[in-house]
Amino acid sequence: MNVYDGERMAEIMADQGLTATDDANAADLVVLNTCHIREKATEKVYSDIGRLRKHGADPLIAVAGCVAQAEGAEIVRRAKVDVVVGPQAYHNLPDLVARAARGEAALDTDMPVDLKFGHLPPRRRVAPSAFLTVQEGCDKFCTYCVVPYTRGAEVSRGWVQVVDEAKALVDAGAKEITLLGQNVNAWDDDGRGLHDLIAALADIAGLHRIRYTTSHPNDMAQGLIEAHRDIEKLMPFLHLPVQSGSDRILKAMNRSHTRDSYLRLLDRVRAVRPDIALSGDFIVGFPGETEADFAETLSLVDAVGHSQAFSFKYSPRPGTPAAGMADQVAAEVMDERLQRLQAALNRDQAAFNAASVGRRCTVLMERKGKLPGQLIGKSPWLQSVHVIGEAAIGDLVDVGITAAGPNSVTGTILEQPHGSEDEVFKRARLDVAA
Ligand code: 5AD
Ligand code: SF4
Repeated sequence: MNVYDGERMAEIMADQGLTATDDANAADLVVLNTCHIREKATEKVYSDIGRLRKHGADPLIAVAGCVAQAEGAEIVRRAKVDVVVGPQAYHNLPDLVARAARGEAALDTDMPVDLKFGHLPPRRRVAPSAFLTVQEGCDKFCTYCVVPYTRGAEVSRGWVQVVDEAKALVDAGAKEITLLGQNVNAWDDDGRGLHDLIAALADIAGLHRIRYTTSHPNDMAQGLIEAHRDIEKLMPFLHLPVQSGSDRILKAMNRSHTRDSYLRLLDRVRAVRPDIALSGDFIVGFPGETEADFAETLSLVDAVGHSQAFSFKYSPRPGTPAAGMADQVAAEVMDERLQRLQAALNRDQAAFNAASVGRRCTVLMERKGKLPGQLIGKSPWLQSVHVIGEAAIGDLVDVGITAAGPNSVTGTILEQPHGSEDEVFKRARLDVAA
């Protein structure tokens, strides 16, 4: 979501006549869009500010995002910054920058109920795979997590607004849209759920692929599960964080699902879409996690067989219930558990990639690779696919997967680029079924 927010802030400032530069020394304004989820991300902001101020140039510095929201005026006390703007207030960036340029205080961490989106400029040019925020905030209050405090309560953007922005993204060059939200599958508008929205977006000609992230297990409605069977354009990939495989720890985390309810949910998804690629998030070293709890996480990993996943050491966040819990786990123990978990996840990712050798699928070409003539795109299962051949960025190309590595696969182009994914995709599904 910070990528999406960053694009939007760049668009707002472009409307003010600013152009983007890769050279921080040449910049009049540097916007640091920040993350508060773990301590390391937060501390990075201060080292980045220090580095920027060390250079000869003296740009205006704006701190945006969740660190701005959480720390507010404290940032101005700790570092020399000119603007502090929270994730729900960045539509006011031009005004804040103007105030800062006049030497006035410029801090806005309001969370207005009327969403910022109505105040943002239209989308003009985007990458073939574009993000679209449809939902923000979280009411789940997992005991380790700052998101409910920094992004605020769960809010859905309205149906018409989302459909209009999706059409604008397609007009601006998007072939694939990833719908974003901290709890994207909690999206609703007057009783209509995410699957209804996906069905409507699938009717947009020129939009070939739809994805969504991140989902909460408890908001995984039957309609959304069935959308994975019924809507061709919805890609066979599901990122569904589980965090731990131990019921005791899940309870302490306030996750409101169990190991078993999570696994049964995945069974239901796999029943309608056998080739679905599964991803997740894991935390090791939550307060009180024993070796036996951690063993449960490893056995859950074995049971699922993820195509990819993210794993983190628990990081105590100020103001969250878990930060004050007894039995904080020692750093060395966390390090060692993270290593074992990542070894298991890497093993499964490599196995997933290896199993896709021989598959045929469409790949959306997203960027140039390092080798001459090489392009990198994504398979329906969100694998990075390296191809050498006659294709351009933004093409959907029919590819046969020929080799697999730990983090990506290699393919050869089977046909010239074409506009419609549906036919090829149907064939790919038949191939997989066979
Ligand atoms: N410490 C470590 N990881 C965290 N996450 C959220 N809060 C914390 C924390 N305090 C992880 C969760 C979540 C992902 C976005 O970040 O796994 O799903
Ligand atoms: Fe944080 Fe996700 Fe839990 Fe919400 S559901 S509190 S965003 S981990």
